Amino acid sequence: MKKKIIVLTGAGISAESGLQTFRGSNGLWNGYNIYEVASPQGWQKDPAMVLDFYNMRRREVAKAKPNLAHKVLVELEKKFEVIIITQNIDNLHEQAGSSHIIHLHGEIIKAQSTTNPELIYNIEFEDIEIGQTCELGSQLRPFIVWFGEAVPMIEKAVHKCADADILIVVGTSLQVYPAAGLIHEVPSVSKKYIIDPEAVHASPFKNIEYIKATATEGLPMLVNQLLHD
Ligand code: APR
Repeated sequence: MKKKIIVLTGAGISAESGLQTFRGSNGLWNGYNIYEVASPQGWQKDPAMVLDFYNMRRREVAKAKPNLAHKVLVELEKKFEVIIITQNIDNLHEQAGSSHIIHLHGEIIKAQSTTNPELIYNIEFEDIEIGQTCELGSQLRPFIVWFGEAVPMIEKAVHKCADADILIVVGTSLQVYPAAGLIHEVPSVSKKYIIDPEAVHASPFKNIEYIKATATEGLPMLVNQLLHD
């Protein structure tokens, strides 16, 4: 029976693929009002602005490629059951080849009906424009969980954490809930690692190993250690 590793990833793992993180020096949120571009209120007020914001981000993702960090997580599957729980909306874990990925905050390559949330369409890297509708005739929106919206995948993520042997947290400031709360959903006896060039405040954490490094420096070292332990 393979041991189970949960990998909780955030924007930092895609930083070295050229995608902006949200907080910190040149974070995306420094240039935008979150509630204008990433909330139901913003969508009601100015849907075209919201669509433009995600069209711009989708074009950035279209240019990005998985980096060494995404790739070494696939290597882990040789010896472990690996479940990636990501806050990222890019598809770099998919492009790298990970087998089990849970997107907590949605996926930039998909669009969603605004009347029936079950209607989800793969649009790859195409823009979404005002006037583009679902099969019921309602405006399409990005398949993204906005601030203030429910996180449908959190129950599944919590369930997957319940019997983890190892938790690896990489590239997240752990400031957004419920995602950040997952660090308390793994067994207290599980081995925990955080990889981040900055010290993140997961202080309530016990028996955690901080690896002060970027994802492409820290993850290959940790994966190598785990594969050869
Ligand atoms: N390698 C690893 N970590 C990095 C790197 C790197 N090269 N560069 C930056 N980081 C770290 C930062 O130090 C920070 O701790 O990545 C983290 C990025 O934090 P945020 O920008 O807050 O991104 P994230 O935690 O993913 O944000 C969570 O907030 O806005 C919402 O929905 C959005 O999913 C996002 C959520």
